[in-house]
Amino acid sequence: MKLSDTQLETFRRDGLLILPGLFSAAEVEAIRTAMPPLFAEDSEANIAEKVGTVPRTIMGLHRRSALFDRLARHPRLVEPARQIAGPELYIQQVKVNVKAAFEGDAWQWHYDFATHHRDDGVPKPQALNLHILLDEVSHYNGPLYFIPGSHRHEPLPTFHDTASTSYPLWVVDRETVRELVAAGGIAPALGPPGTGLIFGDLMVHGSPGNMSPWDRAIFSLILNPVANAQTAFARPEHKHHTDFTPVAPLADDCLLEPAAAQ
Ligand code: SIN
Ligand code: MN
Repeated sequence: MKLSDTQLETFRRDGLLILPGLFSAAEVEAIRTAMPPLFAEDSEANIAEKVGTVPRTIMGLHRRSALFDRLARHPRLVEPARQIAGPELYIQQVKVNVKAAFEGDAWQWHYDFATHHRDDGVPKPQALNLHILLDEVSHYNGPLYFIPGSHRHEPLPTFHDTASTSYPLWVVDRETVRELVAAGGIAPALGPPGTGLIFGDLMVHGSPGNMSPWDRAIFSLILNPVANAQTAFARPEHKHHTDFTPVAPLADDCLLEPAAAQ
């Protein structure tokens, strides 16, 4: 799958590209079916919310599930990423952010490069975050909020927030967010299951808690150019994978026809 010139231009301008209907209902169902056994595993890569018992994020999924291994190499994710970030990309992170009904906690305002750079020594903000909505995402169940245009800044000042949630994160302060939003507004990423989303490492984003009765699971794949690989290795493997082999896209029907993956 190739992005059009218009889509590439939208991505460069806004820092964000929404791809409606990227995955079919049957494909989303296959992904969702693979999730409960992984949620149930006793794994350090399953990180619970600070309060309650539900998972916040389940990570390292391509190492834990054949289906997620194929999804991390899916051409509808890998080929657009290669168009934007170049041909040699490695799999940096593969997760589902769960944001469960009633209990899913917020993600503070941040941009991913702050954590990739400060924790993992990634030199440049070249990684891409590719999402698939796995539930209907509305204004009510904790959608991602993006600040369009925030990616056009040099890396903004951040501080390390280890207290607000169960997931330590380098976050952007309120005054900076106020200024960015005054310039770019806030764009929520809403849509039915199967919607795709691409954003870059400098895009400022976050999401509110989910007090609705509706779950909001999102699949997230981070791909990073091999030439921009991490130089620090303090974080566990599931937070930043250390196999820098370039990812090769599989066949388009690899999720529903696993034999086609070969
Ligand atoms: C993230 O920024 O990695 C998570 C945001 C979300 O799942 O709402
Ligand atoms: Mn993020």
